[in-house]
This record gives sequence, C-alpha cells and structure tokens, in this order.
Amino acid sequence: MLFQGSAAVVLPQTPKHSANWIISVKRSEINAIMQKADDFIQSRGFYLPPFAYWTPDAWTRKGPEASEIVENKLGWDITDFGQGDFHRIGLFLFTIRNGNVQNWQTLTGKLYAEKIMIVEDGQVTPMHFHWRKMEDIINRGGGELLIQLYHATADEQLDEKNAVHVSVDGLQRTLEPGDTVRLIPGESISLQPRCYHKFWGQGRVLIGEVSLVNDDQHDNRFYEPLGRFPEIDEDAPPLHLLCSDYARYFKGK
Ligand SMILES: [Fe+2]
Repeated sequence: MLFQGSAAVVLPQTPKHSANWIISVKRSEINAIMQKADDFIQSRGFYLPPFAYWTPDAWTRKGPEASEIVENKLGWDITDFGQGDFHRIGLFLFTIRNGNVQNWQTLTGKLYAEKIMIVEDGQVTPMHFHWRKMEDIINRGGGELLIQLYHATADEQLDEKNAVHVSVDGLQRTLEPGDTVRLIPGESISLQPRCYHKFWGQGRVLIGEVSLVNDDQHDNRFYEPLGRFPEIDEDAPPLHLLCSDYARYFKGK
C-alpha cells in the first residue's frame, strides 16, 4: 500500500550481487559526484562546513585538532553498496556531526549524529536496519522520498506478518508489512532500531538524517549482504577526501 498518493508505486529491484564482488569506482567519478552534490546542496540553501573543502594536501598538514573529524568519520561518503552501478543503487552522504562507540558506552560526549544525503530519481538505498541507531529521515526538498518498511524478525528476516508502527512528524501511523511511505518536502519519519527500511527518490531529493551515534562498521544490517565503502580506482587526484581516505592522509594523531 502507498501512503500520501494514490498512484501505484513500482518498487525498485533488489540488488543481485553479493558483498564478495569487488567492483571499483573511479576517483574521477567520485570527484564528479561530489561536485554535483555540492552544487545541489547549495542550490537548496544548505551549506557544508569549511572542512568539506580542505584539499588532500591540506589534510596532510592537519594536527590533533582535526582528530574528531577522522575518528568519528565526519565528511564525504559516497557508496554504491558494492554493486558497481551508483546511479541505480547508491547514496551520497556527508556526515556533519557524529559521536563514536565510546560515547555510546559511557553515555558522555556526542550521542547524536547528523547527515545530509542525496538520492537521485529512482536511485535505491537497499533494505537494511540498525541494531542500535534510531534515526529520523527528513525530506529537505527537491523531490519526494519513498521508504519501504518491515519489522525484522528475531532471526533478522523481513517480518511479513506484523504491522509496522512509525512516527511521521509526531503522528503515529500503522502500516502493513512492506508498505511504502511517501515523504513530501518537509516531512520526516522516525525509524526505530530493527525496522528494515529501503528508500529511493522520485526526483532528486536532499535528505537530512538526525540520529543516535552512527557506526557504519558495526551497526548496519543489510538484508542482502552488500559492501559499504567502495574500492577506488585512483585515475585522478581526489577533489576532497572521502571519510574512508583519512587514514592515508591524516598524520595528526
Ligand atoms: Fe538506515
């Protein structure tokens, strides 16, 4: 069933490749995605922090004052989920703020995270849930955002039987398993841990995410095994570093 709109929704196909496929992405392509994303973000009246524009050379001269950016993986993040077809299955992200696992364990420091993301028309972020992170996904404009939802069963499969209860801007909704929620610009949805979600854009959509600490290393459960950080073919110098590049440039610990 589709909410907020009567037209039938054609669900994008689930990816077929496994995480064992190593498909590299060209750095020149990543640079182009970054540039296009930055243009779109600014066109929506949203601005990235200055560290977004540090050059790779500048990164080599940064000291301990920049450790939080590195340790909490703030910054640019582009993923094709290991499928080698970014425009069909992929996501642009920029992590603006984040804590880390230690904050979670001690309940001190930053316990929250914020991202800005972009989905292209029909571009899919595959079905996944988080064991610990609760997140609000916010449509910040440009198009409409479609999110398909299921609970996870105890053995982490899609729960085809039980209804899904979500909050959309503070309004409670009860959905059938596999229902798709349509978020228009300004709307947001709160997703509890263990709530499977898959999303894609109708039109190009700027998305906000406000959540508990984000831990991509340990807290993502993809329904089908997928990669998260791409292998990169260095066919050009980086325009800006991805958060997965920091270890090779940052010596400031
Ligand atoms: Fe998520």
